[in-house]
Amino acid sequence: MLEQFKKDVEKGLSSSPKFLSSKYFYDKKGDELFVKIMGLPEYYLTRSEYEIFSEQTAQIIEAIGVQKETYFELIELGAGDGAKTKKLLHALVEGGFHFDYLPVDISQNALDGLEQSLTRELPNLSVRKQQGDYFEVLASLKKNQHPKVLLFLGSNIGNMPDRLATEFIYKLGASLRTGDKLFLGVDLIKAASIVLPAYNDSQGVTRDFNLNLLERINRELEADFKISNFRHAPEYCEEEGVAKSFLESTADQEVFISSIGKTFTFKKGEKIHMEVSRKYNDEIINSIIANTDFYISHKLMDRKGYFADYIFCRR
Ligand code: AVI
Repeated sequence: MLEQFKKDVEKGLSSSPKFLSSKYFYDKKGDELFVKIMGLPEYYLTRSEYEIFSEQTAQIIEAIGVQKETYFELIELGAGDGAKTKKLLHALVEGGFHFDYLPVDISQNALDGLEQSLTRELPNLSVRKQQGDYFEVLASLKKNQHPKVLLFLGSNIGNMPDRLATEFIYKLGASLRTGDKLFLGVDLIKAASIVLPAYNDSQGVTRDFNLNLLERINRELEADFKISNFRHAPEYCEEEGVAKSFLESTADQEVFISSIGKTFTFKKGEKIHMEVSRKYNDEIINSIIANTDFYISHKLMDRKGYFADYIFCRR
């Protein structure tokens, strides 16, 4: 893990333009900051998807095509605190459906926390935690023949460039059987006046979320980033539908990363590309799934039309 982190940081900071991978945002402090982001007034994504799960639970159950008499596995990739999914879980348990809930996460801590809260809130639910890499877990689950519904919520797919998103969805399809479902939550393309504040909140939590990666490099790779010499500078291009986060160097400066044994030079105004947050429409979704084994069977949106949950069926 640390070796890969080192390699990725060295590669990103030696490139022109410089970049770092947003997958490294999520250490302990990063996780806490992301929980704060989800509650921010400007960050509409979580609230919009929560509204779909709260107000369209019956439509979700119809769309995933599950039958009361047929056992199925409800698998969630990167479940987090499960707030949205709990709405669906309550309805399925109360409706007498026969299923297990399988949250998958790399973090055992996250899974333990989720299991505890589910035991309290839904004592009759059968939870089978799956710790590990998504595709390894899915490969082991494919050995059984049970129908599967896979949840990947929160527009997490949007943090992958389209090429990787296609590859990812293709591999999900390969882990499923005919008739299984993929339930994918995505943020939709909309005006910059709505999207940009979600990535540039007035309390500066998103700024701290980005700067925390520099602090993480300082801590784990023994670097000497002077955090106050970097400015959070997000951008959003509505035509393209892509929000990008950058950290901009506010001075000509050098940063030494001891564990890499290298000095990196930054010019005043030079940017490090930190994250991509893709926004979607039907055309983009169709082109992403074009070469996969999925077709769109349903689409649910919140009242404002900010966010969509697509239900794909495996051919
Ligand atoms: C996890 N992911 C979908 C978030 C997003 O909206 O791209 C991460 C995030 N970055 C800044 N704010 C939230």
